[in-house]
Amino acid sequence: MPEPSRRPSMGSSKMQTLQHIAELRDALRQPRRDGKRIALVPTMGNLHAGHLELVRRARSDADIVVATIFVNPLQFGANEDLDSYPRTLAQDQAGLEAGGCDFLFAPGEAEMYPNGRENQTIVEVPGLSNLHCGATRPGHFRGVTTVVSKLFNIVQPDAAFFGIKDYQQLMVIRRMVVDLCMPIEIHGVPIVRDARGLALSSRNGYLSEPELAIAPTLNRVLRETAQAIEAGESDFEQLAETAQQQLETAGFRRDFVRIVRRSDLAPATNADRELVILSAAYLGGARLIDNIEVSR
Ligand code: PAF
Repeated sequence: MPEPSRRPSMGSSKMQTLQHIAELRDALRQPRRDGKRIALVPTMGNLHAGHLELVRRARSDADIVVATIFVNPLQFGANEDLDSYPRTLAQDQAGLEAGGCDFLFAPGEAEMYPNGRENQTIVEVPGLSNLHCGATRPGHFRGVTTVVSKLFNIVQPDAAFFGIKDYQQLMVIRRMVVDLCMPIEIHGVPIVRDARGLALSSRNGYLSEPELAIAPTLNRVLRETAQAIEAGESDFEQLAETAQQQLETAGFRRDFVRIVRRSDLAPATNADRELVILSAAYLGGARLIDNIEVSR
């Protein structure tokens, strides 16, 4: 059942797009004084139904919804897709406005990193940031936590909404908020999938038609692995290796499949009950991620 909305999704109300921190702060000053609850949805744009679900949840939770679009160079590695990352501002604005978003903050790089990328003060969650996706993409989570902490300081939201597809990112951000005493509720929003189970992602746009036909295998393999765990199998390394091999047979290139415990993303042991299977795999020009929680 849909949650009651604090302010019904208006669709027709005009969303304001702002590019400067000072303008956004001005716009939020009065609502904040009036005790309005503010929700933040940080994104890198090229919005799909998964992002719009974040906006829908934020809309239900708060009086004022602020979305951000910033393709954050700090979280891309040197050989990654910063330059080719899809930028679709006009289309994104239309989707956000229809979803009832009040403000879109879409800064340029100079607004976010006025002293240059290299000189930016860094926020880093130790340990957790270096596992899994952080091992494949060194510096990625440091870039994420740096930009998200800046966005939190700019907007000062009561709540912020992130997709569970980026499972490790969500955990890293939750840790950051606790460690830095940020008074912000962090909400994880379930993965939105297409009819074949493929998790929606801006990077799915990199896939050719034949690759799109293969891509849902990632989720299928995770679901089968989760079922095997639920049925009592507990050789987690072997299960993960079998999953990897199934992905390779389907046409993926290997990054990782790991069965870890939810509390700290360390390798699961037989004593652990609350697990998550994390995965990342390359297909054509895309690196896809997916995950599934499993209890035993
Ligand atoms: O999940 C994303 O799109 C990005 O990592 C985020 C949280 C917007 C930070 O740039």
